[in-house]
Amino acid sequence: MNVLVVGSGGREHTFVWKLAQSPRVDRIFAVPGNAGMADVAECHDVSTAQGFDALADFAEANDVGLTVVGPEAPLVAGIVDVFEERGLRVFGPNAASARLEGSKEFAKRIMEAAGAPTGAYRAFTDAEAARAYVDEAGAPIVVKADGLAAGKGVVVCQTLAEAHAAIDDMLVGGAFGDAGSTVVIEECLVGEEASFTVFCDGVTALPLAGSQDHKPIFDGDEGPNTGGMGAYSPAPVIDDALHALIMTDIVAPVLAAMEAEGHVYRGILYVGLMVTADGPKVIEFNCRLGDPETQVILPRLESDLADLIDAAVDGRLADVELSWTDDSCVCVVMASGGYPDPDYTTGHAISGLADAALADRATVFHAGTSLRDGHVASAGGRVLGVTALGSDISVAVERAYRACDLIEFHGAHYRRDIGHRALARLTHGGA
Ligand code: AMP
Ligand code: GLY
Repeated sequence: MNVLVVGSGGREHTFVWKLAQSPRVDRIFAVPGNAGMADVAECHDVSTAQGFDALADFAEANDVGLTVVGPEAPLVAGIVDVFEERGLRVFGPNAASARLEGSKEFAKRIMEAAGAPTGAYRAFTDAEAARAYVDEAGAPIVVKADGLAAGKGVVVCQTLAEAHAAIDDMLVGGAFGDAGSTVVIEECLVGEEASFTVFCDGVTALPLAGSQDHKPIFDGDEGPNTGGMGAYSPAPVIDDALHALIMTDIVAPVLAAMEAEGHVYRGILYVGLMVTADGPKVIEFNCRLGDPETQVILPRLESDLADLIDAAVDGRLADVELSWTDDSCVCVVMASGGYPDPDYTTGHAISGLADAALADRATVFHAGTSLRDGHVASAGGRVLGVTALGSDISVAVERAYRACDLIEFHGAHYRRDIGHRALARLTHGGA
């Protein structure tokens, strides 16, 4: 079977890397792909400026038997609808289901209908009404653009002044265009964050291993939020009891509420959680796997990823039993200097990749790279996901950092404390 992976980041490199291990996969195409995928995938640039038919044409022309879509933007824009209309096998939610990520207000309504635990909220299109609400609710409070904003549409406000500024930015200044023309204002949740992901085939929801991301740019969780600066799996905060509770109190009722509205959910559902003193609460839903969570989940999966995705597309997840290594996996993201500010610089040659790839149980997933005069160069905010497996989290952390130390590019920045919460549990037996 030929497989097409849509996307260009670390998540998609990890998909391609894992699919290449399947004896059932012949050719792998990545659109557009990145420099790191080139040894296992054929990377092509196919413009979707005129819609997704060009990609469907590409899939047909290359005898693609399965298309896997990595990022949220094409899913929310309806890539799956186009492929399905043309009779092409594709994995991901259709546009109506992807609204769980594409509209935070829609996600909140579904959670209300499902009775799923989440922070109290109100949605506004009028700035004055929104300001009046935060004045009454008090700070800290969270202001979110309703639509997709490339991970930048959430402001955790410590003061009322910050909340007013965020509201004005979105509703008056149009900071996120249409995506910010409605804002969701939400109670600020306190606790430990975790990522929980399920594969859904419309009937069965099959959970993957849990993981934890590190959103802020600097050590100690300081500084502005990013797409994610590192991750690890498993996440000790998700014990067996919590895992069961997430499935019964969140995943099952949310999928049922979606179905009741006529949206049978097929694809990946990512539940971003805050584990609070009152139990788990949903921060957000995503309609795809996390990045960099994918980089630590898939290396622990011993089962064949092509088999798993096939089963999800064909409605056979009830028959699937996944096999996982007990080893821990850690990913450290190396970013461009200046990121997440949009002015970060790129185009810098990256050295040490071959040495890092040979480091003990390490794999370097490319997130934002391109080939320049035959050399790999930085080409994005997040550049590399340096990943390692180990018998426990501390061994995996040490190996990932040893591999990072071998890699250099001008201005490279990475956090030195990835895994700190899990490490603290290891040393102190509790968080
Ligand atoms: P998101 O873009 O929805 O992933 O949100 C980015 C980050 O903002 C999350 O990972 C949390 O750290 C934080 N966040 C979002 N919503 C809340 C909330 N209601 N309370 C506290 N933190 C939040
Ligand atoms: N790492 C968080 C996300 O993919 O949304």
